[in-house]
Amino acid sequence: MEAATVVIRPYRTDDAPHMAQLYYDAVHGLGRREYSAAQTAAWAPAPLQPIDVLTRAADGRTTFVAADAEDRAVAYVDLEADGHVDHLYCHPDFAGQGVASRLLETVIQHAAEQGIAALYVEASELARPVFERHGFAVTARRDFEVRGVPIHNYAMRRDLA
Ligand SMILES: CC(C)(COP(=O)(O)OP(=O)(O)OC[C@H]1O[C@@H](n2cnc3c(N)ncnc32)[C@H](O)[C@@H]1OP(=O)(O)O)[C@@H](O)C(=O)NCCC(=O)NCCS
Repeated sequence: MEAATVVIRPYRTDDAPHMAQLYYDAVHGLGRREYSAAQTAAWAPAPLQPIDVLTRAADGRTTFVAADAEDRAVAYVDLEADGHVDHLYCHPDFAGQGVASRLLETVIQHAAEQGIAALYVEASELARPVFERHGFAVTARRDFEVRGVPIHNYAMRRDLA
């Protein structure tokens, strides 16, 4: 799909159903490029429930959405008050066109405006190069288990000062 029409805007509660589904579609459509079927199944066994998205988004974090021409969420990122970048997910139909990159630029600018001193994230193999292009550096590889399945990601950090 054409990402040129995608607009970055603040999250709204009516984004929740689209975000719940795109989370699952991103893991299974893109995650399999770097992770096994067992790993992606453990990562996202099923789409999120909209209530899960609503609950997370209401806990004080700031969420930005990339919306398509019909104003449907096709990607999102969220930032917690302490500088932790939590979710960054892009629907496969819009991948590889810089949408996540634009979301990350928005988060970095917002965090700087809020006076947050540093950003940190646990980035997947897919997300690592996107964060690296935006000044994040790997501080550690993290090997752990999700639902009994071994998986890994990378702790990354970027100072904003
Ligand atoms: C990680 C993820 C969010 C990246 O989303 P994305 O929108 O495809 O990311 P971008 O388009 O900004 O960057 C991805 C690639 O597109 C390329 N790209 C960037 N802008 C581009 C443009 N305008 N035109 C074409 N390609 C472009 C980038 O160079 C990058 O290439 P690389 O893979 O060789 O590094 C997505 O892969 C995803 O949802 N993965 C599954 C879930 C996941 O891993 N989430 C992260 C958890 S921490």
